[in-house]
Amino acid sequence: MTSAPDTTTSMRTHRCGEVGLHDVGRTVRVCGWVARRREHGEHLAFVDLRDHTGLVQCVVPGTVDVRSEYVVAVAGVVRARPAGTANPDLATGEVEIGECTVEVLSVAEPPPFAVDDRVDADEHLRIRYRFVDLRRPRMQANLRLRAVINAALRSGMERQGFCEVETPLLWAPTPEGAREFVVPSRLQRGTCYVLPQSPQLAKQLLMGGGMDRYYQIARCLRDEDLRADRQFEFTQLDVEASFVGQEDVLAFVSEAVLDAAERATGTRPPEIERLTWADAMDRFGTDKPDLRFGMELVDLTQTFAGTEVRAFSAPCVKGIVVEGGGGTTRSRLDQLTDQAKQLGAKGLAWFRAVPGEGGTGLDGPLARFLSDDDVVGLVSATGAVAGDLVLVVADEYRTVCAVLGRLRVVLGGSPVSEGPFRFAWIVDFPLFEGVDGDGNPVAAHHPFTMPHPDDLDRLESDPTSVRSQSYDLVLNGWELGSGSVRIHRADIQSRIFAVLGIGPEEAESRFGFLLGAFRHGAPPHAGFAVGIDRLVAIFAGEESIREVIAFPKTQSGSDPMTGAPKPVAPRVLADLGLREVPVPE
Ligand code: AMO
Repeated sequence: MTSAPDTTTSMRTHRCGEVGLHDVGRTVRVCGWVARRREHGEHLAFVDLRDHTGLVQCVVPGTVDVRSEYVVAVAGVVRARPAGTANPDLATGEVEIGECTVEVLSVAEPPPFAVDDRVDADEHLRIRYRFVDLRRPRMQANLRLRAVINAALRSGMERQGFCEVETPLLWAPTPEGAREFVVPSRLQRGTCYVLPQSPQLAKQLLMGGGMDRYYQIARCLRDEDLRADRQFEFTQLDVEASFVGQEDVLAFVSEAVLDAAERATGTRPPEIERLTWADAMDRFGTDKPDLRFGMELVDLTQTFAGTEVRAFSAPCVKGIVVEGGGGTTRSRLDQLTDQAKQLGAKGLAWFRAVPGEGGTGLDGPLARFLSDDDVVGLVSATGAVAGDLVLVVADEYRTVCAVLGRLRVVLGGSPVSEGPFRFAWIVDFPLFEGVDGDGNPVAAHHPFTMPHPDDLDRLESDPTSVRSQSYDLVLNGWELGSGSVRIHRADIQSRIFAVLGIGPEEAESRFGFLLGAFRHGAPPHAGFAVGIDRLVAIFAGEESIREVIAFPKTQSGSDPMTGAPKPVAPRVLADLGLREVPVPE
């Protein structure tokens, strides 16, 4: 148990939010930002002073020349507020500091927006003036929660015998699916370092180096389109261990993540449930299922196996039921149909369940084309009752899942950070997802993932049927992390590269160092990485990771505060052997 730190410094005796009835009669000195100043004639002024712990009311005899966001030191005597004037909304609301003298430490221009959680300022402006925005209680709480979660993750890993190792930021390409940031070398002109998408290869090499159990709170960099859950720079709890299998890794990571959840919310979530990838896709249409609500996908392929309805004669037919959704307006249904088409469907069939003769009937544009058997089959498979809405998509399996999985969330989901917190492990991913333009399979996780041992002999003959030993962690519909058992043998790694269309020479030139490590005695190893920004955002009640990052980039990838990215001086380019050329149209 560590005791609370002494917060007295040479400049202050107390922090603003900590002054209380127990201090009545004491002379105190507090420092902070002026939240508000009110004058009562010429004889009395009130200054609400703020620091990261809260606000305290200071009463100054006479006038005081301070304005919002001035930084001041205030000295005075703590006293109970006069009867009837206590402020129950303020932690310090029963007291005030009286007879104050005010020393201005810094003057301030009028703030670009009020430093108040109740004021909704434009996000661009908030990032432009982040040093002001961070003074708001919400941002203070978010960054402090982030520190608490980081500390919990660290101690969870340390307790399990993991050792933190820092890995380089100037690195070589690592194929993890995203575009990379490159850093031109000055000493070796014409060559570049690459900023790591993750410490993936470094941690595997550490296993070769005998580190046994490694972790790192690691900064990762990816040049990808930014969204609510994505930034160029983000942080992972990165983990790797030797002489372990999938079950060991799931246990290590569960322990650390549940520790963090407990520290963040005060309650330890139950043991994390587990679904196979195939089950998640079948039931929820996605590999990141939000388990907080039902509305599961119902398979209708058999139901419509003999149908005359052309729209339903497809390799896969599935539906979802929106309970009580029968009253959905036509324009909303048109919107949903457009959304389904944007996601790749040819269309969206919808039916309103209505009372019918001898059971539930169906209404809707396609209803008159359904045979009696089709209606009975659809109603009994979905369990729809009068008043419900049934949505059906027929297409290739992946398209059906993508469309209905998305519509399920649009129609039934709630904001990601709204409790309860439902974690899930998704296991048994396929090794490859589809094929690229050249007909080569694309690695579903990354090319260092060990195929399932039972499927290894189909690697060349039927690669897309091969399962991998990889796993994801999901929370409330967001992918929180992923990992795998790694290949540790050069022969299997070479076979994977060959299937991916990476020839022996290219493999040697890009990943020779990894293959070399495998040839010099690599232990079996496996690992994982948790996206810390996402974890913190969800527990902070935020819908965007930008709210839990001190200095994030805007959606367009810029930093309006520093102006980055910026042109560099021609001299700097010349040092690097670079010259600006016109961008081809
Ligand atoms: P992966 O690429 O799945 O795996 O990343 C792991 C987790 O990192 C987070 N993440 C991001 N967070 C914010 N912004 C981004 N741009 C971003 N990209 C990823 C997500 C994601 O689940 N080396 C492997 C892990 C391993 O196999 O051990 C890797 O990086 O939460």
